[in-house]
Amino acid sequence: MAIRLPKRYLVTSALPYANGPLHIGHLAGAYLSADVFVRFLRLMKKDVLFVCGSDENGAAITMRAQKEGITPQEIVDKYHSLFEDTFKRIGISFDIYHRTSSPLHHETSQDFFRTLEKKGQFVMKESMQFYDEKAQQFLADRYIKGTCPKCGYESAYGDQCENCGSTLNPTDLINPKSTLTNETPVLKSTTHWYLPLENHSEWLSEWLENGVFNGKKVHDPAEWKNHVLGQCKSWIEGGLQPRAMTRDLDWGVDVPQELPGSAGKKLYVWLDAPIGYISATKQLAEDRKTDWKKYWQDKDSALIHFIGKDNIVFHSIIFPALLKAHGDYILPDNVPANAFMNLEGQKISTSRNWAIWVHEYLDDLPGKEDELRYVMIKNMPEQRDSEFTWNNYQDLVDNELVGNLANFVNRVLVLSHKFYKGKVPKFEEEQDFIGSHGPLEDSFVEAELMDVFDMLFEMREKLYLYDFRGALQQLMNISTMGNQILQFNEPWKIVEDDPHKVKAIMNCCIQIVAALSVAVRPFMPFTSDKMRDMLNLPPIEEKGELLKVLDRLAEGEFLIKPGHQLNQPEHLFTRISDEVIQKQMDKLKSNHLETASAGTPDTPKKSDNNHTADTIQFDDFAKVSIVTGKITDAIKVEKADKLLRLTVDIGSEKRTIVSGIALHFKPEDLIGKDVMVVANLAPRKLKGIESNGMLLTAEDGEGRLGLVSPPVGWPVGSHVG
Ligand code: MF3
Ligand code: ZN
Repeated sequence: MAIRLPKRYLVTSALPYANGPLHIGHLAGAYLSADVFVRFLRLMKKDVLFVCGSDENGAAITMRAQKEGITPQEIVDKYHSLFEDTFKRIGISFDIYHRTSSPLHHETSQDFFRTLEKKGQFVMKESMQFYDEKAQQFLADRYIKGTCPKCGYESAYGDQCENCGSTLNPTDLINPKSTLTNETPVLKSTTHWYLPLENHSEWLSEWLENGVFNGKKVHDPAEWKNHVLGQCKSWIEGGLQPRAMTRDLDWGVDVPQELPGSAGKKLYVWLDAPIGYISATKQLAEDRKTDWKKYWQDKDSALIHFIGKDNIVFHSIIFPALLKAHGDYILPDNVPANAFMNLEGQKISTSRNWAIWVHEYLDDLPGKEDELRYVMIKNMPEQRDSEFTWNNYQDLVDNELVGNLANFVNRVLVLSHKFYKGKVPKFEEEQDFIGSHGPLEDSFVEAELMDVFDMLFEMREKLYLYDFRGALQQLMNISTMGNQILQFNEPWKIVEDDPHKVKAIMNCCIQIVAALSVAVRPFMPFTSDKMRDMLNLPPIEEKGELLKVLDRLAEGEFLIKPGHQLNQPEHLFTRISDEVIQKQMDKLKSNHLETASAGTPDTPKKSDNNHTADTIQFDDFAKVSIVTGKITDAIKVEKADKLLRLTVDIGSEKRTIVSGIALHFKPEDLIGKDVMVVANLAPRKLKGIESNGMLLTAEDGEGRLGLVSPPVGWPVGSHVG
């Protein structure tokens, strides 16, 4: 458990770029997880602020504006209000949803920059940057696309490859092109403010690996996710480089105008965006007349960033370095990043319209907010990528929400009305419950409620450790237990013969429903409201109610007193019909096709990847000799971008094979790889080198190339057929 108990929490969710609607992948990544956590903290009576806002600066915005043919301001206004509305509808309970185009944000990030400048934390550097001569402007990272040097994905951006998640510099890209004009950009000199990140690597390692900062233990690295620490470690081990903190751009926060050389320069969007967390907190404090500083500057505060895995280095390395360089701020206590959620077997993609847009879900399936929340939390990509499918959605709603939770709550309410006109029954504690259905211990209710306490306690532990899937499972286990109590004792059969026992059973079940009405709150707030309504109890305000439930259960006290009048039950959830699922599947596929045929530049051309070939006879196939091999050496072929010269051990001999895969793999990554080789291909000369054989590769719809490999540990020289 936590090595320290923070006095207060500041929880942030990544500021979404205001350049397109929210899809379920966003929700799963940074918003739902944070919302569950924050609602839980409030239920535990913690002092917590939950801040977010729209990321409205930088090239991501101007590019979208260009595409839609409107101004950047119009773009950010449009998506900012869509976000605000969508988050509210799906129940993300931000204390403030701010925006980085606000004057307060501009001022805050400029002040931050000034402090760094004054403290000598920057170095000025002249460098060559890509310039589009046709458009007569320097190109922001996002305006350059090319092939990722790490994974070979052909549409990587200048700052990041969306395929493998690598963070890039534009000059790393192979075959760069300007997205403005599709011209090959030229390099031109420009001067910028750089953060010398390499000077920060030592303390960053100490802080990340041991949780020690300035000689003090500030967090427990064991609470950090492995994939987050792993990414940071590999970054630091790869050698941190100076990183430009300004850009030649015309949309964003100006470099403070009094600084020489500031003309035409804007703050780097990854500098100003995380400062957006600070300006949002400032605005909130101003609105509520409280102090923002204690959340950001007091060592007893815990700062927690919820993000998607593509944002890890910005929140675990670059922003902490900036906070430390500034000097007045605490560092994040944790960065519980999530991996990605795929959709029906494919990566979610905005450009290919392979997504479920949250606002459309809400329009198409009104009143089913919690169904989506449940399915997303159940499949949350906490440690690795996960998957959403409509069939699984239907399955989980039907079997778990309807079959388990709603069923239990409904049965308890219906039976209470049938047996007791909806009044919570009183029962004699010392009653000896020997009924027709076997003995019940006299402390039956107490024992069952102790179990509920244990399960809630376990749920609480898991929530503190960002294990939201595990916590949700605990919650559902409580409902399962409730159903088992009913199923096992069958009170409807013995109510005449053994009214005392039935009163005890029903009282116990009503207490469990009351506990659930609080415990479901972080995951399914709308359901919590409905349950409170049925129980005729006040709605949960998230002011320590879970803490109170735990205390009461620990003391053996009732959550609902005998004699309390319950309201009529309504169904919490209903089954999802096959038609609804089919409709959503059809919609997904037809949206996808529409964009594909519109032929935007980043649409993979299906026809390129059409592998239906003519039929061949078995004898034709039998002519091909395929064997397993191992790459023992790989070097670039001079003056040939695409070619690698490989040495491949195929058991009987070592072959030289020249392969056109240089854009997809780094030579050093290939050494030691197990491959499949066409061994009897006629030799041919490529760039003067005789190639003897061919590697088998697989290409996907996006132009990515993978090596076809034999089963793990398979010996070289095996025949494949
Ligand atoms: N807009 C970025 C993205 O969508 C996230 C910014 S997070 C912040 O990837 F820290 F910069 F705010
Ligand atoms: Zn890549």
